[in-house]
Amino acid sequence: MNDMQHEFEQYDFFRSNRFVDDPYSYFDHLRKQGAVTREPHHGIFMVTGYEEALAVYNDPENFSSCMSTSGPMAGCPIPLEGHEKDDISELIEQYRDKTALSDQLPTMDPPVHNDHRSLLMRLITPLRLKQNEEFMWQLASQQIDTFLARGTCEFIGDFAGPFAVLVISDLLGVPEQDRREFREHLLRQEQERGGSLVGGVSEKEVEHLPLAWLYERFSSYIEDRRRNPRKDVLTGLAEATFPDGSLPTPLDVARIAANLFAAGQETTVRLLSYAFQQVAEHPDIQQRLRANRNLIPDFIEECLRHESPVKGDFRLAKRPTILGGVNIPAGTFLFIANGAANRDSRMFENPDEFQIDRANAKLHVAFGRGRHTCPGAPLARAETIVALNRFFDLTRDIRVSEEAHGPRDARRYGYLPTFILRGLTHLVLEFDPVSES
Ligand code: HEM
Repeated sequence: MNDMQHEFEQYDFFRSNRFVDDPYSYFDHLRKQGAVTREPHHGIFMVTGYEEALAVYNDPENFSSCMSTSGPMAGCPIPLEGHEKDDISELIEQYRDKTALSDQLPTMDPPVHNDHRSLLMRLITPLRLKQNEEFMWQLASQQIDTFLARGTCEFIGDFAGPFAVLVISDLLGVPEQDRREFREHLLRQEQERGGSLVGGVSEKEVEHLPLAWLYERFSSYIEDRRRNPRKDVLTGLAEATFPDGSLPTPLDVARIAANLFAAGQETTVRLLSYAFQQVAEHPDIQQRLRANRNLIPDFIEECLRHESPVKGDFRLAKRPTILGGVNIPAGTFLFIANGAANRDSRMFENPDEFQIDRANAKLHVAFGRGRHTCPGAPLARAETIVALNRFFDLTRDIRVSEEAHGPRDARRYGYLPTFILRGLTHLVLEFDPVSES
């Protein structure tokens, strides 16, 4: 083993910050050993191959999502030892309630997942998404107006963070008068946690998720709208039923609403900030996009592939199985590394290169696949399309601030210190506002 390999083995991807700035060289190191390989610190199978990632995503029979967002990092209450050759489906059900975030959609398995996912899909209908997109155009302009004249902004705090919270607030019909409180509460919680609403690194962090606050707020909205129906989005949420026609409890609906905030905010902020970092770092790309706005959707797919905002999610093997030629004992965790699968050279030619014309970029797994595939993908894409267009309309030239990030040949960027999310903590931009006349 050479020094570099030794270093890769020595550091724990899940607990140390060693790979926060550059997870890709670690993923490459893993892939060199095999598309499915076991890391030494927790015995987790790291899935870095594209085909292998799809195989796990599409096989809920063999792989449970029960601890999808935290894996064993928030503690594992299921006594898994000694079951390597068994079917542990029953065991998982016995302990499911004790696992982290067990009431959240990403951690549910069929058949419960089917019902709750259908409920969610009734909340984000095509009509609702269309109305929400109309709102995004106005909101983006208003948000940019708050700093446009300054010619500079800290993109995440001044734009992406508030934009993403307010878009979801609008999607779910949070009343106008409450939106400021949502924005302040959720952004403050996030700052205190130093990152995402979901996918922290410790048990303590998982316990402190701001979900309780959201559960309470949405339960009371739903109770109110069931007593006094109005012509508004919340009444639609209050009246939505499970596929068998039964009415969910207010808390069931509140969980789904909270899910949308938890899963849809920080992730989208990371996509937005990477898209703007690319645009600001590469004047040629910026010029092409400004000149031909139809290229923006393809550009966004390449951003998602090249810098996947969710580095990966976990699955738990329910039975002994074989993946990519590797034996996976029952009761072991797998980490489907989206960020690695999206740079698998068997699927994407010269995967480390950012190519805005890449023909198959859309096949990335940044939004996962299978039954848990991200239902917020159209929203995240629309938010990024709207933000880029509005910035292009209102500014002439978007640049990285050298004062904040250093000169071009020696940039300094900070990345979120979590193993789940990949993305910048800050992005200071400068631009020339387009004059009114
Ligand atoms: C660029 C932004 C986003 C990325 C990269 C992303 C990524 C993902 C991934 C990888 C999953 C699958 C997790 C798994 O299989 O374990 C997922 C699920 C989910 N996402 Fe997103 N997401 C984004 C934006 C959003 C938005 C805007 C929303 C909602 C407003 C959202 C809501 C959800 C929900 C509710 C789930 C769970 C679905 C289920 O378990 O059935 N996401 N997302």
